[in-house]
Amino acid sequence: MNVAVIGSGSIGPDLAYGFLSAGAQAGIKVFLHDIRQEALDAGVSRIEGYVTKARKRGKLSARDAGALRARLVPTLDLQQLAGCDYVLEAATEDLKTKQAILARLENVVDAGCLIGFATSGLPRARIAAGARHPGRCFVNHPFFPAWRALPMEIVLSGDPALELKMLALMKQLGKVPIVTRDVPCFAADDIFVNYCAEAVRLHAEGIGTPAQIDDVVDRAVGGGGPFWVMDLTHGNPLNVHCLELMKEAPTGSAWFTPPPLMISQGVTPWYPGGQPSREPCDPAAAREIRDRILAVLLARTVFVTDQDICDPSDLNWLTKNALGYAIGLLSLAEQLGADEVHRICTEYAARHPGFEVPRSIRERTLPRFYRDLLVARDDELAVVTVRRPEVRNALSGHTITELDQAFAALEADPAVHGIVVTSFDGALAGADIGELAVLRDVAACEASSSGGQRVMSRIAACSKPVVAAVDGPVMGGGAELCMACHARVVGPGLVLAQPEVKLGIIPGYGGTQRLPRLVGIERGAELLRTGRAIGAKEACAWGWASGEPAADFVGAAKDLLRRHLRGEAMVVPVDPAPMVVPQKLQATELGHLSLAVDEILVAVIREGLQQPLAEGLEVESRGMGRCKTTVDMDIGMKNFITNGPRVPAVFLHE
Ligand SMILES: NC(=O)c1ccc[n+]([C@@H]2O[C@H](COP(=O)([O-])OP(=O)(O)OC[C@H]3O[C@@H](n4cnc5c(N)ncnc54)[C@H](O)[C@@H]3O)[C@@H](O)[C@H]2O)c1
Repeated sequence: MNVAVIGSGSIGPDLAYGFLSAGAQAGIKVFLHDIRQEALDAGVSRIEGYVTKARKRGKLSARDAGALRARLVPTLDLQQLAGCDYVLEAATEDLKTKQAILARLENVVDAGCLIGFATSGLPRARIAAGARHPGRCFVNHPFFPAWRALPMEIVLSGDPALELKMLALMKQLGKVPIVTRDVPCFAADDIFVNYCAEAVRLHAEGIGTPAQIDDVVDRAVGGGGPFWVMDLTHGNPLNVHCLELMKEAPTGSAWFTPPPLMISQGVTPWYPGGQPSREPCDPAAAREIRDRILAVLLARTVFVTDQDICDPSDLNWLTKNALGYAIGLLSLAEQLGADEVHRICTEYAARHPGFEVPRSIRERTLPRFYRDLLVARDDELAVVTVRRPEVRNALSGHTITELDQAFAALEADPAVHGIVVTSFDGALAGADIGELAVLRDVAACEASSSGGQRVMSRIAACSKPVVAAVDGPVMGGGAELCMACHARVVGPGLVLAQPEVKLGIIPGYGGTQRLPRLVGIERGAELLRTGRAIGAKEACAWGWASGEPAADFVGAAKDLLRRHLRGEAMVVPVDPAPMVVPQKLQATELGHLSLAVDEILVAVIREGLQQPLAEGLEVESRGMGRCKTTVDMDIGMKNFITNGPRVPAVFLHE
């Protein structure tokens, strides 16, 4: 596949480097085009800087660095983009420039080439107004730093087949597509740009310096502070342009007028030394800064959901992962409560004419949303997707609570006849280790295990068939979630493991009891005791998964559910009956693994499997609690958090 980025300014080279990295395995070639040689040279040298940094940090081998460089094609000649499958236009933010580039580009590329515009605020309809093939034209709005920021806002084109192609392409290029309506500044920039404008107004009114405002704001919501982020993104001119677009929109008003200081500041940094600083300010000023910034952030966020510009779950994820706030802004609104959000916004509105308090805030009915899940419908089927790609879809306690809520709702919905459980990209990286590491005592470990088990058992007991659809790394708690489903369908890239023993613990969400019941005691015990991973073919051959590995694993899971519903196939929860357990488990090479934890695990497997599943799960929870009595749990957790999964822990076996 060939892709191209047009424009080698602030963001173009970062986008190109991101595509080069994401496309390493597929050998994707990336063209970088500009009309100015010096811009192209600067872009190539920025990419070279990223490669050098990645080499120094050991993230890129010499061979891979060479291959990456060879796949980059800088060019002044637009004709060279002829064979591209996708072109992302990231040239100067100017409607006429973008329209002219599109007109020339359509003469160069094939009809099948998808085109994205990286515009910060210009609606798709305006840029693509003269397009020969408007159905292949999309807004693809990236975020800073574009080489590694996951989110990409997408304005769809109205051609359903090409829309699916674009969404799949974004995932292939390492992005998390977030669909928005085609309004000026889409979703995130409406919030971000107005927040920056408010910060500049506060400064212009003498309420705080950039260092004071950034200090207050960073403490309140995280994200580094508006002035520092404006400096990082050379953002003032783009912000002014976006404010003008929002002011002229049908929902605009004089409130969106760009602050004169933002215009006069131009590209001059707010921090002259190039480094942010922090200054304290007096409590009254701090309170005013906090409340005014929160009023703008919360009102614009709820405006976006009230206007159906972006789905609330998507927007909450976007505000955290694109704008860098400590939590999603809808989660923040939820934390503050409807009354406090109402107070903050109405007090601000009383002093700022033209500022709109959105209906949901006026009526104190904040949007309801899942933070970590997406729940979609495909006719009679529901698809529950764990969407936490920033942590490979690891299951936090909150995610598990949301799974519980989603299953309660789906079970009660008569229109839903079957449920697929999947994740953003197929991976389910396990439980949230940070949460496990802070469990204080035996009782807390037991409670964490039995709490998770309760939700897994609810899924297993669901009156509607439930099929897991996974690919890539499926580890620990992620694998246990799959085993609570009534069948599993896997993609060819599956890497399946219960690696808990490497962390000095045992599986606590049913893994010790369901895995041997699915694949047999011998194989199950070996996988549990060694933490060894198996691939898709073994998982299918051993009965962990159904059928054969399928590239479209979600489609295959839907297919299996529909066959089940027609009576042509059968999916059933793991058999809860007791098993016959041999006197002694097969000898297993444990290497460096903890003997103390292995002793607990073997006892749990043997004792638990001889009982019905429900009692076996209780045995498992008690075993999880016993792990806390070993020093090895502490050692394993600390090692994982400090060194990551690849460095083996040095256990004491006590
Ligand atoms: N800078 C950011 O952080 C950011 C973030 C999100 C989106 N964007 C969007 O990305 C686009 C680029 O932004 P930027 O900040 O990199 O702009 P920039 O002004 O820094 O760079 C624009 C580049 O486009 C080149 N260019 C101009 N006309 C061209 C043409 N006809 N053909 C090829 N190249 C041409 C210029 O020579 C320049 O190198 C804009 O639409 C902007 O809104 C930028």
